[in-house]
Amino acid sequence: EARPREEWTGQVGFILSAIGSAVGLGNIWRFPGVAYENGGGAFLVPYLIALITAGVPILYLDYAIGHRFRGSAPLAMRRISRWFETLGWYQVAICLAIAVYYTAVIAWALSFFWYSFDLRWGDDTTTFFLVDYLQVADVGGADPWFTLDFVPAVLIPLVLVWVVAIIVLSAGVARGVQRVNLLFMPLLLVAFGVLVVRSLFLPGATDGLNALFTPNWAALGDADVWIAAYGQIFFSLSIAFGIMITYASYRRRRGNLTSPGLVVAFANSGFELFAGIGVFAALGFLAGQEGVAFGELEGITGPILSFVTFPALVSQMPAGALFGALFFGSLVMAGFTSLVSILQVVSAAFQEKLSISRRQAAFGIGGVAGVISVLGFSTTTGLIALDTLDNWANNVGIVSAAVAMCVLVIWVARRGRELRFHLNSVSTLQVGGWWTFFVGVLAPLVLGWMLVSRIQTLLVEGYEGYATWYLGVVGWGAIAAFVVFAVVLTLTPWRSPVDVYAPWPR
Ligand code: PHE
Ligand code: NA
Repeated sequence: EARPREEWTGQVGFILSAIGSAVGLGNIWRFPGVAYENGGGAFLVPYLIALITAGVPILYLDYAIGHRFRGSAPLAMRRISRWFETLGWYQVAICLAIAVYYTAVIAWALSFFWYSFDLRWGDDTTTFFLVDYLQVADVGGADPWFTLDFVPAVLIPLVLVWVVAIIVLSAGVARGVQRVNLLFMPLLLVAFGVLVVRSLFLPGATDGLNALFTPNWAALGDADVWIAAYGQIFFSLSIAFGIMITYASYRRRRGNLTSPGLVVAFANSGFELFAGIGVFAALGFLAGQEGVAFGELEGITGPILSFVTFPALVSQMPAGALFGALFFGSLVMAGFTSLVSILQVVSAAFQEKLSISRRQAAFGIGGVAGVISVLGFSTTTGLIALDTLDNWANNVGIVSAAVAMCVLVIWVARRGRELRFHLNSVSTLQVGGWWTFFVGVLAPLVLGWMLVSRIQTLLVEGYEGYATWYLGVVGWGAIAAFVVFAVVLTLTPWRSPVDVYAPWPR
Protein backbone atom coordinates (compact mmCIF):
# COMPACT_ATOMS: atom_id res chain seq x y z
CA GLU A 1 0.00 0.00 0.00
CA ALA A 2 1.23 3.43 -0.94
CA ARG A 3 0.42 5.19 2.32
CA PRO A 4 0.09 3.53 5.72
CA ARG A 5 -3.61 3.05 6.34
CA GLU A 6 -5.36 5.18 8.93
CA GLU A 7 -6.35 3.29 12.08
CA TRP A 8 -8.61 3.61 15.08
CA THR A 9 -6.46 4.26 18.12
CA GLY A 10 -7.81 1.11 19.78
CA GLN A 11 -10.67 -1.28 20.37
CA VAL A 12 -12.80 1.27 22.24
CA GLY A 13 -12.57 3.75 19.37
CA PHE A 14 -13.61 1.08 16.88
CA ILE A 15 -16.50 -0.22 18.98
CA LEU A 16 -17.87 3.20 19.92
CA SER A 17 -17.67 4.39 16.32
CA ALA A 18 -19.45 1.27 15.06
CA ILE A 19 -22.15 1.74 17.71
CA GLY A 20 -22.32 5.42 16.77
CA SER A 21 -23.07 4.45 13.20
CA ALA A 22 -25.67 1.85 14.11
CA VAL A 23 -27.49 3.92 16.71
CA GLY A 24 -29.32 6.51 14.67
CA LEU A 25 -32.70 8.03 14.05
CA GLY A 26 -34.06 4.55 13.31
CA ASN A 27 -33.54 3.46 16.90
CA ILE A 28 -35.53 6.37 18.22
CA TRP A 29 -38.32 6.92 15.74
CA ARG A 30 -38.58 3.64 13.86
CA PHE A 31 -38.18 0.74 16.27
CA PRO A 32 -40.89 1.63 18.82
CA GLY A 33 -43.60 2.06 16.18
CA VAL A 34 -42.58 -1.03 14.21
CA ALA A 35 -42.64 -3.16 17.36
CA TYR A 36 -46.02 -1.75 18.39
CA GLU A 37 -47.60 -2.43 15.01
CA ASN A 38 -46.15 -5.92 14.62
CA GLY A 39 -47.24 -7.84 17.67
CA GLY A 40 -45.96 -5.70 20.56
CA GLY A 41 -44.12 -7.89 23.07
CA ALA A 42 -44.41 -10.86 20.70
CA PHE A 43 -42.39 -8.92 18.09
CA LEU A 44 -39.30 -9.54 20.20
CA VAL A 45 -39.29 -13.17 19.05
CA PRO A 46 -38.88 -12.59 15.28
CA TYR A 47 -36.72 -9.58 16.08
CA LEU A 48 -34.21 -11.65 18.08
CA ILE A 49 -34.28 -14.43 15.51
CA ALA A 50 -33.57 -11.90 12.75
CA LEU A 51 -30.73 -10.44 14.83
CA ILE A 52 -29.08 -13.82 15.24
CA THR A 53 -29.71 -15.28 11.79
CA ALA A 54 -29.12 -12.22 9.60
CA GLY A 55 -27.99 -9.21 11.65
CA VAL A 56 -24.90 -10.59 13.34
CA PRO A 57 -23.86 -12.88 10.44
CA ILE A 58 -23.97 -10.09 7.83
CA LEU A 59 -22.25 -7.72 10.26
CA TYR A 60 -19.45 -10.31 10.47
CA LEU A 61 -19.37 -10.60 6.69
CA ASP A 62 -18.87 -6.83 6.41
CA TYR A 63 -16.15 -6.92 9.08
CA ALA A 64 -14.36 -9.85 7.47
CA ILE A 65 -14.33 -8.25 4.01
CA GLY A 66 -13.16 -4.85 5.25
CA HIS A 67 -10.54 -6.22 7.59
CA ARG A 68 -9.07 -8.87 5.32
CA PHE A 69 -8.98 -6.75 2.17
CA ARG A 70 -8.24 -3.51 3.97
CA GLY A 71 -10.04 -1.12 1.72
CA SER A 72 -13.11 1.01 1.21
CA ALA A 73 -16.06 -0.90 -0.25
CA PRO A 74 -14.97 -0.66 -3.93
CA LEU A 75 -11.34 -1.52 -3.22
CA ALA A 76 -12.14 -4.41 -0.88
CA MET A 77 -14.68 -5.80 -3.36
CA ARG A 78 -12.20 -5.46 -6.21
CA ARG A 79 -9.63 -7.39 -4.24
CA ILE A 80 -12.12 -10.23 -3.98
CA SER A 81 -12.84 -10.19 -7.69
CA ARG A 82 -12.12 -7.61 -10.38
CA TRP A 83 -15.72 -6.73 -11.32
CA PHE A 84 -17.14 -6.80 -7.80
CA GLU A 85 -15.82 -3.26 -7.63
CA THR A 86 -19.13 -2.24 -9.20
CA LEU A 87 -21.02 -3.55 -6.16
CA GLY A 88 -18.69 -1.47 -3.96
CA TRP A 89 -19.54 1.67 -5.90
CA TYR A 90 -23.24 0.81 -5.79
CA GLN A 91 -22.90 0.80 -1.99
CA VAL A 92 -21.07 4.13 -2.13
CA ALA A 93 -23.89 5.57 -4.24
CA ILE A 94 -26.46 4.48 -1.64
CA CYS A 95 -24.41 6.15 1.09
CA LEU A 96 -24.18 9.36 -0.91
CA ALA A 97 -27.92 9.37 -1.54
CA ILE A 98 -28.70 8.78 2.12
CA ALA A 99 -26.24 11.47 3.20
CA VAL A 100 -27.90 14.19 1.13
CA TYR A 101 -31.22 13.85 2.93
CA TYR A 102 -30.07 12.53 6.32
CA THR A 103 -28.30 15.87 6.85
CA ALA A 104 -31.63 17.63 6.38
CA VAL A 105 -33.23 15.63 9.18
CA ILE A 106 -30.31 16.46 11.46
CA ALA A 107 -30.82 20.11 10.50
CA TRP A 108 -34.49 19.93 11.52
CA ALA A 109 -33.48 18.39 14.85
CA LEU A 110 -30.99 21.20 15.36
CA SER A 111 -33.70 23.80 14.76
CA PHE A 112 -36.09 22.06 17.13
CA PHE A 113 -33.39 21.82 19.76
CA TRP A 114 -33.26 25.59 19.58
CA TYR A 115 -37.05 25.96 19.58
CA SER A 116 -37.31 23.79 22.73
CA PHE A 117 -36.08 26.56 24.96
CA ASP A 118 -39.14 28.77 24.40
CA LEU A 119 -41.52 26.03 23.19
CA ARG A 120 -41.73 27.95 19.94
CA TRP A 121 -44.09 25.43 18.34
CA GLY A 122 -47.16 26.54 20.34
CA ASP A 123 -50.31 24.41 20.52
CA ASP A 124 -50.79 23.28 16.95
CA THR A 125 -47.58 21.36 16.38
CA THR A 126 -48.70 19.85 13.05
CA THR A 127 -49.16 23.27 11.55
CA PHE A 128 -45.96 24.48 13.11
CA PHE A 129 -43.86 21.67 11.60
CA LEU A 130 -45.39 21.44 8.14
CA VAL A 131 -46.51 25.00 7.47
CA ASP A 132 -44.53 27.38 9.67
CA TYR A 133 -41.23 25.50 9.74
CA LEU A 134 -40.93 23.41 6.55
CA GLN A 135 -43.33 25.61 4.52
CA VAL A 136 -44.34 22.51 2.59
CA ALA A 137 -45.61 23.26 -0.91
CA ASP A 138 -49.04 22.06 -2.00
CA VAL A 139 -47.62 19.64 -4.56
CA GLY A 140 -50.06 18.13 -6.98
CA GLY A 141 -52.35 21.00 -6.06
CA ALA A 142 -51.34 24.61 -6.55
CA ASP A 143 -47.57 24.12 -6.57
CA PRO A 144 -45.06 22.30 -8.79
CA TRP A 145 -43.33 19.10 -7.60
CA PHE A 146 -39.96 20.73 -7.50
CA THR A 147 -39.20 24.30 -6.52
CA LEU A 148 -36.17 26.36 -5.67
CA ASP A 149 -38.10 28.31 -3.03
CA PHE A 150 -35.61 28.07 -0.19
CA VAL A 151 -36.69 27.91 3.43
CA PRO A 152 -34.04 29.81 5.44
CA ALA A 153 -34.94 28.12 8.74
CA VAL A 154 -33.91 24.79 7.16
CA LEU A 155 -31.17 26.09 4.90
CA ILE A 156 -29.07 27.67 7.66
CA PRO A 157 -28.78 24.64 9.97
CA LEU A 158 -28.35 22.41 6.91
CA VAL A 159 -25.31 24.35 5.73
CA LEU A 160 -23.98 24.24 9.28
CA VAL A 161 -24.32 20.43 9.42
CA TRP A 162 -22.40 20.11 6.13
CA VAL A 163 -19.62 22.43 7.29
CA VAL A 164 -19.11 20.50 10.52
CA ALA A 165 -19.25 17.18 8.67
CA ILE A 166 -16.56 18.34 6.22
CA ILE A 167 -14.32 19.43 9.09
CA VAL A 168 -14.73 16.07 10.83
CA LEU A 169 -14.02 14.12 7.64
CA SER A 170 -10.95 16.09 6.76
CA ALA A 171 -9.56 15.53 10.27
CA GLY A 172 -9.46 11.79 9.49
CA VAL A 173 -10.45 8.54 11.13
CA ALA A 174 -8.70 8.87 14.48
CA ARG A 175 -8.76 12.62 14.95
CA GLY A 176 -12.15 13.26 13.34
CA VAL A 177 -14.59 10.37 13.19
CA GLN A 178 -13.41 8.58 16.32
CA ARG A 179 -13.28 11.78 18.34
CA VAL A 180 -16.84 12.71 17.48
CA ASN A 181 -17.98 9.28 18.62
CA LEU A 182 -15.95 9.33 21.83
CA LEU A 183 -17.60 12.62 22.67
CA PHE A 184 -21.17 12.05 21.46
CA MET A 185 -21.85 8.44 22.40
CA PRO A 186 -21.41 8.87 26.18
CA LEU A 187 -23.29 12.18 26.00
CA LEU A 188 -26.10 10.53 24.06
CA LEU A 189 -26.36 7.76 26.63
CA VAL A 190 -26.62 10.26 29.48
CA ALA A 191 -29.07 12.59 27.71
CA PHE A 192 -31.28 9.75 26.55
CA GLY A 193 -31.00 7.98 29.90
CA VAL A 194 -32.32 11.04 31.73
CA LEU A 195 -35.12 11.28 29.19
CA VAL A 196 -36.22 7.66 29.55
CA VAL A 197 -36.15 7.76 33.35
CA ARG A 198 -38.13 11.00 33.35
CA SER A 199 -40.72 9.44 31.01
CA LEU A 200 -41.20 6.50 33.32
CA PHE A 201 -42.31 8.81 36.11
CA LEU A 202 -44.94 10.60 34.04
CA PRO A 203 -48.58 9.85 34.85
CA GLY A 204 -49.93 7.37 32.30
CA ALA A 205 -46.50 5.89 31.51
CA THR A 206 -47.66 2.36 32.28
CA ASP A 207 -50.50 2.62 29.73
CA GLY A 208 -47.89 3.27 27.05
CA LEU A 209 -45.69 0.43 28.20
CA ASN A 210 -48.63 -1.96 28.29
CA ALA A 211 -49.55 -0.93 24.77
CA LEU A 212 -46.00 -1.56 23.57
CA PHE A 213 -45.29 -4.82 25.32
CA THR A 214 -48.63 -6.65 25.49
CA PRO A 215 -47.88 -9.61 23.25
CA ASN A 216 -50.09 -10.50 20.34
CA TRP A 217 -48.87 -14.04 19.70
CA ALA A 218 -51.07 -14.44 16.64
CA ALA A 219 -48.78 -11.96 14.88
CA LEU A 220 -46.07 -14.62 14.72
CA GLY A 221 -48.11 -16.44 12.09
CA ASP A 222 -48.05 -13.40 9.82
CA ALA A 223 -45.26 -13.32 7.21
CA ASP A 224 -45.32 -9.50 7.12
CA VAL A 225 -44.36 -9.40 10.78
CA TRP A 226 -41.27 -11.48 10.02
CA ILE A 227 -40.38 -9.24 7.10
CA ALA A 228 -40.76 -6.22 9.37
CA ALA A 229 -38.38 -7.84 11.88
CA TYR A 230 -35.70 -8.59 9.27
CA GLY A 231 -36.17 -5.12 7.79
CA GLN A 232 -35.75 -3.43 11.15
CA ILE A 233 -32.61 -5.38 12.13
CA PHE A 234 -31.08 -4.80 8.78
CA PHE A 235 -31.71 -1.08 8.63
CA SER A 236 -30.84 -0.62 12.25
CA LEU A 237 -27.44 -2.30 12.18
CA SER A 238 -26.48 -0.38 9.01
CA ILE A 239 -25.11 -3.50 7.37
CA ALA A 240 -24.42 -4.34 3.72
CA PHE A 241 -24.00 -0.87 2.32
CA GLY A 242 -20.32 -0.38 2.88
CA ILE A 243 -20.19 1.27 6.30
CA MET A 244 -18.97 -1.68 8.33
CA ILE A 245 -16.58 -2.73 5.53
CA THR A 246 -15.00 0.71 5.70
CA TYR A 247 -14.90 0.89 9.49
CA ALA A 248 -13.37 -2.59 9.81
CA SER A 249 -10.67 -1.66 7.30
CA TYR A 250 -9.31 0.80 9.89
CA ARG A 251 -9.14 -1.88 12.57
CA ARG A 252 -5.53 -2.85 13.30
CA ARG A 253 -4.28 -6.08 11.73
CA ARG A 254 -4.55 -8.32 14.76
CA GLY A 255 -7.69 -6.67 16.08
CA ASN A 256 -10.39 -8.95 17.44
CA LEU A 257 -13.57 -8.75 15.33
CA THR A 258 -16.27 -11.13 16.51
CA SER A 259 -16.68 -10.08 20.15
CA PRO A 260 -16.76 -6.38 19.26
CA GLY A 261 -19.38 -7.28 16.65
CA LEU A 262 -21.58 -8.83 19.33
CA VAL A 263 -21.10 -5.79 21.55
CA VAL A 264 -22.15 -3.51 18.68
CA ALA A 265 -25.19 -5.62 17.78
CA PHE A 266 -26.45 -5.89 21.34
CA ALA A 267 -25.71 -2.26 22.17
CA ASN A 268 -27.76 -1.20 19.16
CA SER A 269 -30.68 -3.45 20.05
CA GLY A 270 -30.41 -2.47 23.70
CA PHE A 271 -30.63 1.18 22.76
CA GLU A 272 -33.64 0.42 20.59
CA LEU A 273 -35.50 -1.29 23.40
CA PHE A 274 -34.56 1.50 25.74
CA ALA A 275 -35.91 4.04 23.24
CA GLY A 276 -39.10 1.99 22.89
CA ILE A 277 -39.63 2.19 26.64
CA GLY A 278 -38.98 5.93 26.78
CA VAL A 279 -41.07 6.81 23.74
CA PHE A 280 -44.07 4.69 24.73
CA ALA A 281 -44.02 5.83 28.35
CA ALA A 282 -44.12 9.42 27.06
CA LEU A 283 -46.90 8.57 24.59
CA GLY A 284 -48.90 7.01 27.44
CA PHE A 285 -48.69 10.34 29.22
CA LEU A 286 -49.83 12.18 26.09
CA ALA A 287 -52.85 9.89 25.65
CA GLY A 288 -53.82 10.63 29.25
CA GLN A 289 -53.47 14.39 28.77
CA GLU A 290 -55.62 14.31 25.65
CA GLY A 291 -58.13 11.97 27.27
CA VAL A 292 -57.99 9.39 24.46
CA ALA A 293 -57.40 5.64 24.53
CA PHE A 294 -53.81 4.75 23.63
CA GLY A 295 -54.89 3.06 20.41
CA GLU A 296 -56.36 6.30 19.12
CA LEU A 297 -53.10 8.24 19.29
CA GLU A 298 -51.78 9.20 15.89
CA GLY A 299 -48.33 10.03 14.63
CA ILE A 300 -46.37 7.50 16.62
CA THR A 301 -43.56 6.78 14.12
CA GLY A 302 -41.10 8.54 11.85
CA PRO A 303 -40.62 12.28 11.44
CA ILE A 304 -44.16 12.97 12.65
CA LEU A 305 -43.42 11.25 15.98
CA SER A 306 -40.33 13.36 16.49
CA PHE A 307 -41.40 16.70 15.08
CA VAL A 308 -45.16 16.82 15.73
CA THR A 309 -46.09 14.39 18.51
CA PHE A 310 -43.07 14.96 20.73
CA PRO A 311 -43.33 18.76 20.64
CA ALA A 312 -47.01 18.44 21.63
CA LEU A 313 -46.06 16.23 24.53
CA VAL A 314 -43.23 18.51 25.60
CA SER A 315 -45.62 21.46 25.76
CA GLN A 316 -47.86 19.60 28.19
CA MET A 317 -45.12 18.56 30.60
CA PRO A 318 -43.75 20.31 33.63
CA ALA A 319 -40.19 21.47 32.75
CA GLY A 320 -40.93 20.53 29.15
CA ALA A 321 -38.23 22.79 27.72
CA LEU A 322 -35.51 20.68 29.29
CA PHE A 323 -37.17 17.46 28.12
CA GLY A 324 -37.43 18.85 24.60
CA ALA A 325 -33.82 19.96 24.54
CA LEU A 326 -32.68 16.52 25.70
CA PHE A 327 -34.82 14.81 23.07
CA PHE A 328 -33.73 16.93 20.11
CA GLY A 329 -30.16 17.01 21.35
CA SER A 330 -30.26 13.20 21.36
CA LEU A 331 -31.59 13.15 17.81
CA VAL A 332 -28.78 15.44 16.67
CA MET A 333 -26.07 13.33 18.30
CA ALA A 334 -27.50 9.98 17.19
CA GLY A 335 -27.95 11.31 13.67
CA PHE A 336 -24.59 13.03 13.34
CA THR A 337 -22.55 9.96 14.36
CA SER A 338 -24.44 7.94 11.73
CA LEU A 339 -23.89 10.67 9.15
CA VAL A 340 -20.11 10.69 9.56
CA SER A 341 -20.09 6.93 9.02
CA ILE A 342 -21.87 7.10 5.66
CA LEU A 343 -19.72 10.02 4.55
CA GLN A 344 -16.56 8.16 5.53
CA VAL A 345 -17.59 5.37 3.13
CA VAL A 346 -17.69 7.87 0.27
CA SER A 347 -14.55 9.67 1.33
CA ALA A 348 -12.48 6.48 1.69
CA ALA A 349 -13.64 5.23 -1.70
CA PHE A 350 -12.60 8.41 -3.54
CA GLN A 351 -9.34 8.77 -1.63
CA GLU A 352 -8.28 5.34 -2.82
CA LYS A 353 -9.60 5.47 -6.35
CA LEU A 354 -8.23 8.91 -7.23
CA SER A 355 -5.24 8.85 -4.89
CA ILE A 356 -6.29 12.10 -3.22
CA SER A 357 -5.87 13.22 0.37
CA ARG A 358 -8.68 12.99 2.90
CA ARG A 359 -8.87 16.76 2.89
CA GLN A 360 -9.43 16.88 -0.86
CA ALA A 361 -11.97 14.08 -0.58
CA ALA A 362 -13.81 15.81 2.28
CA PHE A 363 -14.05 19.14 0.50
CA GLY A 364 -14.86 17.59 -2.88
CA ILE A 365 -17.60 15.29 -1.62
CA GLY A 366 -18.88 17.74 0.96
CA GLY A 367 -19.01 20.43 -1.69
CA VAL A 368 -20.86 18.44 -4.35
CA ALA A 369 -23.15 16.52 -1.99
CA GLY A 370 -23.73 19.63 0.11
CA VAL A 371 -24.99 21.55 -2.91
CA ILE A 372 -27.29 18.70 -3.97
CA SER A 373 -28.53 18.44 -0.42
CA VAL A 374 -29.31 22.16 -0.20
CA LEU A 375 -31.00 22.29 -3.62
CA GLY A 376 -33.11 19.21 -2.99
CA PHE A 377 -34.00 19.39 0.67
CA SER A 378 -34.02 22.95 1.97
CA THR A 379 -36.84 24.09 -0.30
CA THR A 380 -40.61 23.93 0.02
CA THR A 381 -40.61 20.59 -1.84
CA GLY A 382 -37.85 19.06 0.31
CA LEU A 383 -40.14 16.90 2.43
CA ILE A 384 -41.71 14.95 -0.42
CA ALA A 385 -38.32 14.39 -2.08
CA LEU A 386 -36.85 13.22 1.21
CA ASP A 387 -39.70 10.84 1.91
CA THR A 388 -39.48 9.30 -1.57
CA LEU A 389 -35.70 8.96 -1.73
CA ASP A 390 -35.58 7.50 1.77
CA ASN A 391 -38.13 4.86 0.88
CA TRP A 392 -36.33 3.74 -2.28
CA ALA A 393 -32.83 3.88 -0.82
CA ASN A 394 -33.86 1.69 2.12
CA ASN A 395 -36.34 -0.70 0.60
CA VAL A 396 -34.77 -1.22 -2.79
CA GLY A 397 -31.19 0.07 -2.56
CA ILE A 398 -29.87 -1.41 0.67
CA VAL A 399 -31.71 -4.70 0.35
CA SER A 400 -30.53 -5.29 -3.22
CA ALA A 401 -26.93 -4.50 -2.18
CA ALA A 402 -27.17 -7.05 0.62
CA VAL A 403 -28.51 -9.83 -1.58
CA ALA A 404 -25.86 -9.10 -4.21
CA MET A 405 -23.09 -9.08 -1.62
CA CYS A 406 -24.06 -12.43 -0.07
CA VAL A 407 -24.53 -14.11 -3.44
CA LEU A 408 -21.40 -12.70 -5.09
CA VAL A 409 -19.01 -13.20 -2.21
CA ILE A 410 -20.22 -16.59 -1.01
CA TRP A 411 -21.45 -18.25 -4.22
CA VAL A 412 -19.72 -16.60 -7.15
CA ALA A 413 -16.29 -15.94 -5.64
CA ARG A 414 -16.66 -18.78 -3.09
CA ARG A 415 -14.91 -16.87 -0.33
CA GLY A 416 -17.05 -18.09 2.58
CA ARG A 417 -14.41 -20.42 3.99
CA GLU A 418 -11.58 -17.97 3.61
CA LEU A 419 -13.51 -15.18 5.32
CA ARG A 420 -14.58 -17.44 8.15
CA PHE A 421 -10.96 -18.47 8.71
CA HIS A 422 -9.99 -14.84 8.66
CA LEU A 423 -12.53 -13.98 11.36
CA ASN A 424 -11.33 -16.89 13.45
CA SER A 425 -7.64 -16.19 13.02
CA VAL A 426 -7.91 -12.69 14.51
CA SER A 427 -10.76 -13.25 17.00
CA THR A 428 -11.07 -15.02 20.32
CA LEU A 429 -14.76 -15.91 19.82
CA GLN A 430 -14.82 -18.42 16.95
CA VAL A 431 -17.53 -18.64 14.30
CA GLY A 432 -18.65 -22.06 13.14
CA GLY A 433 -20.04 -23.41 9.89
CA TRP A 434 -23.45 -22.00 10.85
CA TRP A 435 -22.13 -18.61 9.80
CA THR A 436 -21.59 -19.67 6.20
CA PHE A 437 -25.09 -21.13 6.15
CA PHE A 438 -26.67 -17.94 7.47
CA VAL A 439 -24.86 -15.53 5.14
CA GLY A 440 -24.85 -17.89 2.16
CA VAL A 441 -28.29 -19.45 2.28
CA LEU A 442 -30.74 -18.12 4.83
CA ALA A 443 -30.03 -14.37 4.57
CA PRO A 444 -30.08 -14.20 0.74
CA LEU A 445 -33.32 -16.19 0.67
CA VAL A 446 -35.12 -14.07 3.25
CA LEU A 447 -33.74 -10.80 1.91
CA GLY A 448 -34.33 -11.80 -1.71
CA TRP A 449 -37.95 -12.55 -0.92
CA MET A 450 -38.24 -9.26 0.96
CA LEU A 451 -36.78 -7.38 -2.02
CA VAL A 452 -39.13 -8.97 -4.53
CA SER A 453 -42.19 -8.34 -2.38
CA ARG A 454 -41.25 -4.71 -1.75
CA ILE A 455 -40.57 -3.99 -5.43
CA GLN A 456 -43.89 -5.60 -6.29
CA THR A 457 -45.74 -3.46 -3.76
CA LEU A 458 -44.09 -0.29 -5.02
CA LEU A 459 -44.92 -1.14 -8.63
CA VAL A 460 -48.52 -2.08 -7.91
CA GLU A 461 -49.49 0.40 -5.21
CA GLY A 462 -47.07 3.27 -5.81
CA TYR A 463 -46.11 5.26 -2.77
CA GLU A 464 -48.09 7.67 -0.60
CA GLY A 465 -50.26 8.53 -3.60
CA TYR A 466 -47.47 10.51 -5.26
CA ALA A 467 -47.65 10.85 -9.05
CA THR A 468 -46.24 7.90 -10.97
CA TRP A 469 -43.87 10.05 -12.99
CA TYR A 470 -42.51 11.54 -9.77
CA LEU A 471 -41.78 8.11 -8.31
CA GLY A 472 -40.16 7.22 -11.64
CA VAL A 473 -37.82 10.19 -11.45
CA VAL A 474 -36.99 10.38 -7.75
CA GLY A 475 -37.50 6.74 -6.63
CA TRP A 476 -36.69 4.37 -9.50
CA GLY A 477 -34.56 7.11 -11.08
CA ALA A 478 -32.34 7.14 -8.00
CA ILE A 479 -31.76 3.38 -8.24
CA ALA A 480 -30.93 3.71 -11.95
CA ALA A 481 -28.55 6.55 -11.09
CA PHE A 482 -26.80 4.34 -8.50
CA VAL A 483 -26.19 1.71 -11.17
CA VAL A 484 -24.88 4.23 -13.70
CA PHE A 485 -22.63 5.80 -11.05
CA ALA A 486 -21.29 2.36 -10.13
CA VAL A 487 -20.51 1.39 -13.71
CA VAL A 488 -18.88 4.73 -14.57
CA LEU A 489 -16.64 4.63 -11.51
CA THR A 490 -15.66 1.04 -12.13
CA LEU A 491 -14.55 2.01 -15.62
CA THR A 492 -12.57 4.99 -14.32
CA PRO A 493 -8.90 4.02 -14.06
CA TRP A 494 -7.32 3.66 -10.62
CA ARG A 495 -4.72 6.24 -9.76
CA SER A 496 -3.33 4.35 -6.80
CA PRO A 497 -1.75 0.87 -6.75
CA VAL A 498 -4.42 -1.67 -5.89
CA ASP A 499 -3.19 -4.98 -7.21
CA VAL A 500 0.00 -5.13 -5.20
CA TYR A 501 -1.83 -6.29 -2.11
CA ALA A 502 -1.35 -9.56 -0.23
CA PRO A 503 -4.19 -10.55 2.09
CA TRP A 504 -3.20 -11.08 5.68
CA PRO A 505 -2.91 -13.45 7.50
CA ARG A 506 -2.22 -16.21 5.03
N1 PHE B 1 -28.67 2.42 11.49
C1 PHE B 1 -29.19 3.74 11.55
C2 PHE B 1 -30.43 3.80 12.40
O1 PHE B 1 -30.85 2.86 13.00
C3 PHE B 1 -29.57 4.25 10.23
C4 PHE B 1 -28.47 4.69 9.38
C5 PHE B 1 -28.78 5.16 8.19
C6 PHE B 1 -27.15 4.67 9.76
C7 PHE B 1 -27.81 5.61 7.39
C8 PHE B 1 -26.18 5.12 8.95
C9 PHE B 1 -26.52 5.58 7.77
O2 PHE B 1 -31.00 4.84 12.50
NA1 NA C 1 -29.80 1.42 14.62
